[in-house]
Amino acid sequence: VCGLYQEKALMNQHWVITAGPTREAIDPVRYISNHSSGKMGYAIAQAAVNAGAKVTLISGPVNIPEPSSVELINVMSAEQMHQQALLKAKGADVFIACAAVADYRVVEIAEQKIKKTADNHHMQINLVKNPDIVADVAALSEKPFTVGFAAETQDVEQYALDKLTRKNLDLIAANNVALSGQGFNSDNNALTVFSATSQQDISLMRKSDVAEQLVDIIAEQLGEKR
Ligand code: CTP
Ligand code: CA
Repeated sequence: VCGLYQEKALMNQHWVITAGPTREAIDPVRYISNHSSGKMGYAIAQAAVNAGAKVTLISGPVNIPEPSSVELINVMSAEQMHQQALLKAKGADVFIACAAVADYRVVEIAEQKIKKTADNHHMQINLVKNPDIVADVAALSEKPFTVGFAAETQDVEQYALDKLTRKNLDLIAANNVALSGQGFNSDNNALTVFSATSQQDISLMRKSDVAEQLVDIIAEQLGEKR
């Protein structure tokens, strides 16, 4: 790990990272979202900067101070994140999809606040699938080295490997969010990083340390690929 950071080994590289949740509006005062804190993505951005990379961080709404030395692009919805990601990933060396993108958005966002009335005891909201950001980046003709995340509550390895293949990723970092003290909102994390032919464990520790090890693994695999 040390060498990469002392030598600023990622100098001349451009890394693009998505982080945080997305927010899908229902009406002017309500939205659908998830519990992603953005901490893991921001930690990866910091580690990549520390190793000398030029970093673009495309972030959903989070409560984290703006990191120094990164190009920060704030977005709200999955569609906005999708647009920025495709724009920035073109020509980038590495793309890391750390964001917890809402899988669905509201078909018709109400222009006015939706009112509850005496007779609508139940209500339905129509949802439509959002574009898959990391899969679309991996489908670019000049595809960056593409890394996904898989937060799972069961059958972690099987689901992670399925996403690696289905989305045409180079690496996938899997974590079990059902285990306490790691994942969503926690300051710690543990990951298993899969490629099509390898598997590496990053043990439970602070997200900043996990990020350094992950950046190290990516740099190593990128080197082997070139
Ligand atoms: N992802 C993405 N765009 C989406 C959905 C997911 O870029 N619309 C990315 C995430 O950032 C992550 C990876 O895909 O890197 C896996 O996300 P995940 O939610 O685990 O996978 P899904 O394909 O959405 O499957 P599911 O939620 O059903 O497990
Ligand atoms: Ca999902």
